[in-house]
Amino acid sequence: MIARYLALCLALLGSLTPHAACAFEFCVSTAAHQIEGQNQNSDWWNWERIPGKIKNGHTSTFATRSFEFMDVDVQNLKSLGVSVYRFSIEWAKVEPLPGQWNLDVLKQYETLIQKLKLAGIEPMVTLYHFTLPQWVAAQGGWDWPELPTAIERYTQKVAHFFSKSHRAKIKLWNTINEPITLIAAGYLSDVFPPGKKDLKSFARPMLHLVQAHAKMYRALHAQFPTLGIQVGIAHHLRVFDPKRKWHPLDWIFAHKFEEIANWAIPRAIATGKFEVNLPGLVSLSADVPEALNTQDFVGINYYSRDLISVHPFSAEPLKRSVPEGAPLTDLGWEIYPKGLVEVVSKTVKLHPGLPVWITEIGIADRLDQNRIPFLRAHLEELLQHRNWPIRGLCHWTLNDNFEWAEGYTAQFGLFATDLTTGKRTPKPSAKEFPKLIQWFKENRGSAQ
Ligand code: FCB
Repeated sequence: MIARYLALCLALLGSLTPHAACAFEFCVSTAAHQIEGQNQNSDWWNWERIPGKIKNGHTSTFATRSFEFMDVDVQNLKSLGVSVYRFSIEWAKVEPLPGQWNLDVLKQYETLIQKLKLAGIEPMVTLYHFTLPQWVAAQGGWDWPELPTAIERYTQKVAHFFSKSHRAKIKLWNTINEPITLIAAGYLSDVFPPGKKDLKSFARPMLHLVQAHAKMYRALHAQFPTLGIQVGIAHHLRVFDPKRKWHPLDWIFAHKFEEIANWAIPRAIATGKFEVNLPGLVSLSADVPEALNTQDFVGINYYSRDLISVHPFSAEPLKRSVPEGAPLTDLGWEIYPKGLVEVVSKTVKLHPGLPVWITEIGIADRLDQNRIPFLRAHLEELLQHRNWPIRGLCHWTLNDNFEWAEGYTAQFGLFATDLTTGKRTPKPSAKEFPKLIQWFKENRGSAQ
């Protein structure tokens, strides 16, 4: 395993200049729909306009106007001391109607990448971060069996465009962001479109997500045979523990949650076999040999832990909760740094030898009092495991933005955004962030 990692480091040497191969990179993460605004042709545009879906009736109409504030944001990224910026390309803008491509939109991303490179920052591009073009949603969204082919075409288009661009080479790619969040929020509940809220509805779209990832991975590598690109998928991984350690049902269901939510998709990629089984509700198994070997790194988005408890005769038979007295974020998520170690350790076991990126980690913290301690506590956990092949960590996020169903009420940014003028103001944690990076690098380096 170590040998494979070293070989990968050597292969990368030179390809990711100016960053030394296998150094630990710090990064900031964003998503198109949450920052750009004017995403009229996306399924979320319609969703946000259904009364009651988004807190306070907020919409993403202007979001943080990221294209208008591109220069400011790049300067701010530079001031943080990060070497990678993870952002997403918006399918609904690139292909607003089937087969109709908007190259001007791709040119905007190209400009962004050029500016990032000038600032010494590498792009990490996500091709799909929760939002679909309306025409895809109208076909059934992730339930549409042709979606993997449609997203493959979009991937080819984007990859072709950037393969021709001399100053905007992209070496780090994510195919899909958090497939399981989309399933949980859009199919098992009605927090995201399509809002199915039906326990029986989720297996097929989940399989399509795996098939789509495999096609996207292969399309990217086909387009960049010599650039040494690295392609991964960003998984949302949580810890699921039984609430009552003595209760067998809590154990069984915590385990089931973990198996389906955390591992069904990564396992399908590791083994070529997709399987979900909820007895009496859903059972789907399928061979996906095309998904084998379709990760050059594994992306992990880590936020929190859930305690699971089972109450068979109550109105809410399956409950998710947090431990009594636990430290919580503004969204009521438990702050649980040890969980990061747990999910990384299981990931490393499932995908031996593959580099890992923490593609998202962050905290909703309106007062900006807990952000740096939160990050430091998680980084301290990573320092206990220097032998893991972790390539970098992306903070979620740069500016306070449109946080899906929470609207603008959940504030994850290092910079505050004035929603009327777009002006960004650094929070105290934006000033502390470079020191945090330095502290981590010193501590990581000294023990190597
Ligand atoms: C993640 C999403 C990201 C953002 C953060 C807070 O699950 O990938 O878009 O909403 O949560």
